[in-house]
Amino acid sequence: MEVVIFDSPSEVGCHVANTIEALLTSNDAPVLGLATGSSPLPAYQELITRYRSGSITFEHARAFLLDEYIGIEEDSPQSYRHFIESELTRHINMRPEALAGPLLSPASGTRAGYDYERRISEAGGIDLQLLGIGTDGHIGFNEPSSSLASRTRVKTLMAATRRDNARFFAGDEDAVPRHVITQGIGTILDARHLVLIATGSAKANIVALAVEGPVTSMVPASALQLHPHATVVLDEQAAKHLTLHDYYREMFELKPERMGL
Ligand code: F6R
Repeated sequence: MEVVIFDSPSEVGCHVANTIEALLTSNDAPVLGLATGSSPLPAYQELITRYRSGSITFEHARAFLLDEYIGIEEDSPQSYRHFIESELTRHINMRPEALAGPLLSPASGTRAGYDYERRISEAGGIDLQLLGIGTDGHIGFNEPSSSLASRTRVKTLMAATRRDNARFFAGDEDAVPRHVITQGIGTILDARHLVLIATGSAKANIVALAVEGPVTSMVPASALQLHPHATVVLDEQAAKHLTLHDYYREMFELKPERMGL
């Protein structure tokens, strides 16, 4: 696992944008996995800026959402599809049909997870999966106790996650859905490169557990320790409880350019 630490969230965003730019320029048909929430927003803004300046194109890119609420219409402002469209894809030249989400319609029932997995594998798998981390350690919406081998399926949100996400529902915790459909931890681990973003001191404890603690389903993000190419990009606030903080800083400063991002 590579841990990269910057002074500010905007530098975190630039680094993640550099990583995505490297993929876009080296791959004819790049497949991105996109996370919602606050953590990736500086990266999305940077990507939009670079697209507008003509330095990158998303013409041949495809994207898969990490997760989606159940019981919220796809075109509602609170849906994760709507979030990604308004924060990223509407402002770049990705084809609208190139964005896919794990939609759970009454007709799809328990097949929805299998269908989504099939669509990801038909696209050749995900090249780069962006992730945030919940204060309880979730990645996607895989709450603590999720199997580390889990696949796309329906999950029930914990109270802490619904409380954290109430800010996207005008502060009304009761309006946050109880159920979601999410890529499983096993699905996430199938992506070729995992990039987890965390900023702010509220994430410092859980980041330290996920990066330096034991691999356990009680901290779903600790599963990144099992992945051969996982990058954790942090600001100083989120990195402040890491025991090997200085080593991570040094490792990145000394990283040979030929190793890439
Ligand atoms: C988003 C997602 C969640 C968030 C996590 C952190 O698609 O699946 O795991 O990444 O809840 O959210 P923020 O970035 O808002 O702190």
